[in-house]
Formats: sequence, C-alpha cells, structure tokens
Amino acid sequence: MRDRIETIIKEVEGFSAKTKENAEEFRLKYLSRKGKISELFDEFKTVSPELKKDVGQLLNRLKISAQEKLDHFKGDGNENETSSGSDLTMPSPDWRGSRHPISIVRKNILDIFGRLGFTVEEGPEIEDDWHNFTALNFPEDHPARDMQDTFFLGDNIALRTHTSSVQVRILEKTAPPVRIMMPGRVYRNEAISARAHCFFHQVEGLYVDKNVSFADLKQTLLYFAQEMFGEETKIRLRPSYFPFTEPSAEMDISCTICAGKGCAVCKHSGWVEILGCGMVDPSVLKNCKVDPEVYSGFAFGMGIERITMLKYGVNDLRLFSENDAKFLSQFESEI
Ligand code: DAH
Repeated sequence: MRDRIETIIKEVEGFSAKTKENAEEFRLKYLSRKGKISELFDEFKTVSPELKKDVGQLLNRLKISAQEKLDHFKGDGNENETSSGSDLTMPSPDWRGSRHPISIVRKNILDIFGRLGFTVEEGPEIEDDWHNFTALNFPEDHPARDMQDTFFLGDNIALRTHTSSVQVRILEKTAPPVRIMMPGRVYRNEAISARAHCFFHQVEGLYVDKNVSFADLKQTLLYFAQEMFGEETKIRLRPSYFPFTEPSAEMDISCTICAGKGCAVCKHSGWVEILGCGMVDPSVLKNCKVDPEVYSGFAFGMGIERITMLKYGVNDLRLFSENDAKFLSQFESEI
C-alpha cells in the first residue's frame, strides 16, 4: 500500500491544471467521496497495527498535498477568489468598524481635562528603576518592586507598572508651571481574570505651580467626574497611601449603575472607587530638581478600563483585548 500511495503522491505533484475543468477533474479523481484518496482511507482500516503509523502519515501527506494543489488551482483560476471562495475585492458589508472603547474613553478623559488647560504628554513603556520607582519615593523593599508584580527586563529595567513614571520624566525637563495628562499602557505580573490583566491603560494627571492646594485637586476631580458620568455624580475622597503623594487619597464616585442606592457593582455601598490622587510629595519634587519651598502640586492616576467598565456597564476586563467584533461593534462614536 505504501508504494501505491507514493505513486499517487507523485501523480498529484505532477498534475497541472490549465482550466477550471482540469481542476474539477483533479478534484473528482483524488478528493471527491469516491476519489482515490477516499478509497485509500477505506483500505487503511485493514492495515495491520504495526504499519498503521507509517502508512497513516504517508496517507495524510497525500491528502494535504492534494488539497493544497486544489487550492492552488482555484487561486490561479481567478485571482480575486480565495480558497474559501470569498471575493476580497467586493465592497464591505454595512459595518464600517468603530473605535475601540478604550480609545473612546481615553479621548473623553483627555478632552475633559483639556478644557481645564491640561496638555498631553507620553513616556516610554520600557522604563528604568529611577523613573518607575526610586524618583517616586518607593522604599527599597516596597512590594511593587517585587518580581511577582513587575515584569523585569533586566537589572534596572522593567515594563512600567504605572504612568506615574511619566510625571518624573516631564518634571525633570520642564520648569513649572506644569499641567499635563499622561495616557499610556502599563504592565503588571497578574493572573488574567475578569477583574485583572497583565496589561491595561492608565491616565495620569499632574499640576505643579505656586500655591496649588488640595482644594484645587478636589474641584478638578469633581469637574471631571460630573463631565464623565453626569452632573448628578457625587465624589468622596478617602485617605490612602501612595509613596509619591502626601497626603494621598482614593476617590469614589456615587455608583453609576444604581445612583447610590446599592447594587452588585458597588457591593451595596453606593460608591465605586475610580482613582488614586494626592499632593505631590516634596521629595518627588526634589528628585526632579523642582524646589518644594516654592512649588506644590497635585497628581492623580486612573485606569481607563475601569472608567470604561463603569461608563458602559462592561463586566469583564478580558473583553477589551479579545478583539471580538460582536463586542467592539457596539461602540459607535463620532470621534
Ligand atoms: N500610580 C498609582 C497606581 O498605579 C495611581 C496613582 C495614585 C497615581 C495616586 C497618582 C497618584 O498620580 O497621585 O496605582
């Protein structure tokens, strides 16, 4: 049987089809239900167990090469046709594609802060220890520096774990006043689930000038929350800790789903956390050669996925990176 298969492989390889009829002849002879290959597969059932592996491999080789040959004939027959028969030059159906929800919300956020005079800056995704940790006042033994949380690429180099690194990059080279938004992708060594991912997006905000106060921070964030989620939205600031801000806070907004009455999204508290913020720690200003006796500032950072989930009621982070057209096509936008 081996010999017969080998002869047919040679036959198949030597076959050339000049017309559609030739191609169809080829298909009937080898690949149809009553064709030679099908016959061989029937016969294969009777092959003794010791020979099955060898003969089986050869038979599969024959089948694949015949199929490839047929695909090739079809392709040659009509350049616009793929092997599946679809015509790639046809006009596309109604759906023209849409922006990714993360891009829509990123733009919404930047537009809102743009109206308050914030401009946009970006920084590298591969970052050194100084910009990601040390200049931001992270203690030597801070857990975020741990291999478990950070993707290290070398001794002093890692995928940035937050966009706060961009604050340092810009402050190092710009004299205040500085009023900037810093969007970008960040990476953390997390197990992927509905609520966590190894990469996601953040937007960082920074305002450094003379006499910047916590009241300025609060009013700026209230404006943002009401522009983003509607003017009935309330905010609350809870004391928290970040190495690079002092004092630090986390901000909650009244739940966008139940308007504060209590539901699964806000775990029946009426509030959902959306960002971290605080007054820039004087030692961070010093690290960036800005005099903390003259200048003060506030900073904040938020996850774009989180804002998008709340705005559109998306309940699984993984949807943002799966590229499922059914999910993505729901986000129509003018931008
Ligand atoms: N970098 C923080 C994080 O990734 C978020 C953050 C908190 C940014 C407070 C800030 C801030 O600028 O002031 O969790």
